[in-house]
Amino acid sequence: EMAEKAGYPHFMLKEIHEQPKAIRDAIHGNRGIISKVAEEIAGYDRVIFVAMGTSYHAALVGKYLFQRLAKRIPIVEEASEFRYEFEDLVDDGTLVIAITQSGETADTLAAMKLAKRKGAKVLAIVNVVGSMATRIADLTLYTHAGPEIGVAATKTYTTQLTVLTMLAIELARKLGTVDPEYLGELERGLELVPDLVEDVLTHEESLRELAEELKDKRDFFYIGRGAGFPTALEGALKLKEISYIHAEGLSAGELKHGPLALLEDGVPVVAINPSGKVFDKMVSNIEEARARGAMIISLSDREELSRVSDVLIKMPEVDELLSSIVYVVPLQILAYHLAVLRGNDPDKPRNLAKSVTVE
Ligand code: AGP
Repeated sequence: EMAEKAGYPHFMLKEIHEQPKAIRDAIHGNRGIISKVAEEIAGYDRVIFVAMGTSYHAALVGKYLFQRLAKRIPIVEEASEFRYEFEDLVDDGTLVIAITQSGETADTLAAMKLAKRKGAKVLAIVNVVGSMATRIADLTLYTHAGPEIGVAATKTYTTQLTVLTMLAIELARKLGTVDPEYLGELERGLELVPDLVEDVLTHEESLRELAEELKDKRDFFYIGRGAGFPTALEGALKLKEISYIHAEGLSAGELKHGPLALLEDGVPVVAINPSGKVFDKMVSNIEEARARGAMIISLSDREELSRVSDVLIKMPEVDELLSSIVYVVPLQILAYHLAVLRGNDPDKPRNLAKSVTVE
C-alpha cells in the first residue's frame, strides 16, 4: 500500500497532488471527441443535470457554464429526487447529463434508466471505464482522472469541471452564442489551468499552518456567488466528510436572509472571491460577516481583499469561468490537514463508502 501511495501519507493527498496531470489528461483525452458530442446535443434546449454529492456540485458548475456560454438554462436535480419528480417531465426532447465518478451510484443510475425509458438522450460524464453508467448512456465523456482511492472526491471533481468547461465552450461555438475569439481565449486559459493548480499546490505548508490555527473550531461557513457558490458547497462537503466538523456552504447573497444569525466572534467564514462579475457584491457580503465578528478567510487573486480579511489565501489570476477548478484546491488541502490534525483517516471517513450502490 505504501508503494501505491507514492510516498504520500494518504491516498487523498496523493490524489490532490495528481490534479495537474489529471486535468491535462482530461483535456487531451477529450479533445478529439468533444466536438462530436457537442454536435449531438446542440439541438436540445431542455437540459437536466443529475448527480449526487461532489458530482452534484460539478453539475452546479456545469449549469453556470451552460448559462454563461451556451445560453442554455439547465435544471440541476439531485439524482435521488429526479425519479420521483421528473417522471412526467422528461421526453425525447430532453437531454439528461449524468455526472458520476464511479459510474455506479445507485441514485444516478436509477435517474439515467428513467430518462432512457422516457426517450431522453442521456450523456454520462464518468471516470471509471466500462462502469454501469457508461452502459446505460447514449454518449459518454470520460474524465481520465485515473483511479481515485480516497473516499473524498478530489481529482475526479476537477476533471469533471474540466470536461464540462470543454463541452460548454464547444456548444457555444456550435450555437454561436459567444464571441468565438473569447472561446479561443478560454480554451487557451484552460490549457494553463494545470500550471495554476501546480502553483496553488506549492502553498500547502501555509494551508497546513492555517489548519493548525483552525483545528478546534466547531463550525465553518463557506460563502460564494456565481461559480463560487458550488465551490463553497464543495469546500464545506470536503470538511464535513473527513474532519467531521460542522460546515455549511452558502450562497453569499443568502447570508442576510437568515444564516447571519449564526455568526459569532471567531467563527471561520471562508469566502470564495475570484475577480469577476460578482467580486464587489462579495466584498459587501464579507463585510456583513465581518461586522458580526467572523474570522474571514478569503480566497482571491485581488490583494485588496486583505483589507476585509483575517487571512487572504492568494490565488493566481484566472478567468472567472475557469476559477472553480483552481479555487477548490486549497479547500481540499485545508480539509485534508484538518482531518489529519484531528486524528482522522481522511482516506476512510466513518460511515461513508466510495460509491453508494444502494438508493
Ligand atoms: C465526495 O467526496 C463523496 N465521496 C460523494 O459525495 C460522491 O461524490 C457521491 O457519492 C457521488 O459519487 P459518484 O460521483 O461516484 O456518483
